[in-house]
Amino acid sequence: MELTDARVLVAGASGALGGQITDALLARGARVVAAGRDADRVGAVAARCGTEPVLFDAVDTESCQATVTAAVEQLGGLDVLVVCVGVAGFGRAAEADDAVVEELFAVNVLGPMALVRAASAAMGDQGAVAVVSAILADLPTAGMAEYSAAKSALATWLGVLRREERRRLTVLDVRPPHLDTGLDGRALAGEPPKLPAPFPSADVVEALVQGLAEGSREVVLDAKAGALVRR
Ligand SMILES: NC(=O)c1ccc[n+]([C@@H]2O[C@H](COP(=O)([O-])OP(=O)(O)OC[C@H]3O[C@@H](n4cnc5c(N)ncnc54)[C@H](OP(=O)(O)O)[C@@H]3O)[C@@H](O)[C@H]2O)c1
Repeated sequence: MELTDARVLVAGASGALGGQITDALLARGARVVAAGRDADRVGAVAARCGTEPVLFDAVDTESCQATVTAAVEQLGGLDVLVVCVGVAGFGRAAEADDAVVEELFAVNVLGPMALVRAASAAMGDQGAVAVVSAILADLPTAGMAEYSAAKSALATWLGVLRREERRRLTVLDVRPPHLDTGLDGRALAGEPPKLPAPFPSADVVEALVQGLAEGSREVVLDAKAGALVRR
């Protein structure tokens, strides 16, 4: 995918990773619409893009569809969707609160799926989606059963989408390890278990943008090398 002049929607641009991804795409010459939930944070990112911010709540799938429509209107079409929307939740699986479990799945799975479906419909013959799931899709972890299960569901869905739409869509699943963005401090519930030393988010940003440019399918951690690999 040629990123210069590519028409890109970043959903979750208000977040730590999303803001950095937006800046990296702008540096590559992409035209970017920034979408998020927090009006101040997404407004600041949108000002760097020179486009209008778009607000949505991932628990409301209609607002996810409307976000794609708003981006298409601003950009005159859509070539790339980046989804870096997510929230963590901690605690023992057997003790999880129903409302928290519902929100975890709405934000981490149902909202991203709705964004991707709407973008797929808007892209026509060719396009690319890059979605940030997590290493937890491969390594479900004690103390974060629902967050792990949600990321696993998202990664599974992306894998099927990639096969079904292989002739027209590039589907990049980015599965980072624990990062330096402070996400664990913004959890819906509970206290995080002991986590490994945080990995630099800048490396994820670079791998995602390069993966988009190269048409990669996955960005994953090579634990032995201690580095991200694209494949
Ligand atoms: N940090 C890590 O250790 C790590 C590891 C693996 C994967 N990830 C994934 O990386 C992605 C980005 O996370 P981050 O580390 O950059 O954390 P972050 O700064 O907290 O970003 C989270 C993003 O999700 C958005 N969001 C949360 N709930 C939402 C809702 N109901 N509706 C709309 N947007 C919502 C936030 O929007 P607002 O700010 O506008 O509320 C923000 O843009 C997430 O998918 C996360 O699961 C993170």
